[in-house]
Amino acid sequence: MKAVKIKDVLQNGATNSSCVVQGWVRTFRANRFIALNDGSTIDNLQCVVDFEALEESLLKQITTSAALELEGTLVESQGSGQKVELQVEKTTVLGASDPEKYPIQPKKHSLEFLREKAHLRVRTATFSSVMRVRSALAFAVHEFFQEEGFFYVNTPIITGSDAEGAGEMFRVSTLDPKKPALNESGEINYKNDFFGKETNLTVSGQLEAESYALGLGDVYTFGPTFRAENSNTTRHLAEFWMIEPEMAFYDLNDNMNLAEKFITSVLKKVLSRCEKDLHFLDERFDKEEKSKPQLERSPMGLLEKIKFVVENDFKRVSYSEAYEILRNSKPNKKKKFQFPITEWGVDLQSEHERFLVEKHFNCPVILFDYPANIKAFYMRRNDDEKTVRAMDILFPGIGEIVGGSQREERLDVLEKRIEEMEIDKEELWWYLDLRRFGSVPHSGFGLGFERLVQFTTGMNNIRDVIPFPRTPQNASF
Ligand code: 4AD
Ligand code: MG
Repeated sequence: MKAVKIKDVLQNGATNSSCVVQGWVRTFRANRFIALNDGSTIDNLQCVVDFEALEESLLKQITTSAALELEGTLVESQGSGQKVELQVEKTTVLGASDPEKYPIQPKKHSLEFLREKAHLRVRTATFSSVMRVRSALAFAVHEFFQEEGFFYVNTPIITGSDAEGAGEMFRVSTLDPKKPALNESGEINYKNDFFGKETNLTVSGQLEAESYALGLGDVYTFGPTFRAENSNTTRHLAEFWMIEPEMAFYDLNDNMNLAEKFITSVLKKVLSRCEKDLHFLDERFDKEEKSKPQLERSPMGLLEKIKFVVENDFKRVSYSEAYEILRNSKPNKKKKFQFPITEWGVDLQSEHERFLVEKHFNCPVILFDYPANIKAFYMRRNDDEKTVRAMDILFPGIGEIVGGSQREERLDVLEKRIEEMEIDKEELWWYLDLRRFGSVPHSGFGLGFERLVQFTTGMNNIRDVIPFPRTPQNASF
């Protein structure tokens, strides 16, 4: 008989029918009740063995974390809160385990502890839920763009350009680190390196996506990006996944409209597709919040927050308006901000973003028209010469979830900006070509996938929403 997934058994299993399931033992009680989980759903299947009929040696191998195949008959459940349970007739141990040495015991472990057991943590209810939601979100992302007529493009991972100009890149090289070839001035001679030039892991696929948008129209990327920023926060990873749509003939307003529609659409889909996991995570979130001091607690539950975002429009505010709000805010006047808001043009820190979203507006906020000096070279300059057509979307509990802009499509303005910012123009020859041959207004944005997963699952630390997190001083597994 072919094994069936526990999700299907619990949804459609008819009493008195035979069935085979395969999974891992979560708990084994009273030498009788096995809670079996196969990852297909958060729920375990209760399986009842007749220990008197089992050989001693077999019984001994039914332990937490062992992998079993169980064959039997589905019967009406006596009280496990489920419709059916499995009356086991045949037990096969697929993979025995040593429950004494198995690091994950049937009790609550801290997330920090589980991060050190990242190879096994997906066998817990919390991590399996988070990863199923992550998968559903990824599918919804593709679905949204495909339904909107976008084309999925794969931009390079190894690149010669620093799209964000922030210089936080991981070098890719095959030179001998002990004896790299040097040129006459004592610097590394990249001519001898694998690609014959200096290359890095990409920080963003945007520049290449622009090239494809100016031919295919509407495109999106969804891939890994890498940043060597030394930020040990709950919001930063050195390796994270980003979704970057890029649209020809879009201005900033079109861009903001798409971003809002995109986020609400994927959240809606996941609300209906991941009901069980989200219900579990909602309860988990509640418990976590209750353990925090009153003032730090989220005013809304997890499901409540997601529904709120889906049902309410994002608030759109220019940087200049936000600056005035912040300058006149209580925490600024009482000097409660670590970075006081003193003059127009300062970059906003996460304390400011969170004040706007969580205290002032109480909803997701799109900030636009930022000062040119705090944004990347490629953003379209406004007529005021001071601001650029940038937009960031700020989310409660997360801060910045999206960064995007209308792109500078005018060759002369772009070249001038590149020179002002002392960026290597030679490297960008092809990017400038796009402005020489049929340049049109175009726009795009980048959404940090893990930050979206964080928002949807209510996990406080970004390290807990990606299978194997990479952060400063940590690349285990
Ligand atoms: O604001 P960023 O740097 O924008 C770009 O990279 C643009 N090229 C995007 C575009 O217009 N196509 O990054 C975009 C988003 C951020 O808003 C944030 O959600 C996420 O990527 N992000 C990170 N997520 C996790 N760890 C990090 N270190 C992140 N850095 C950015
Ligand atoms: Mg940004």
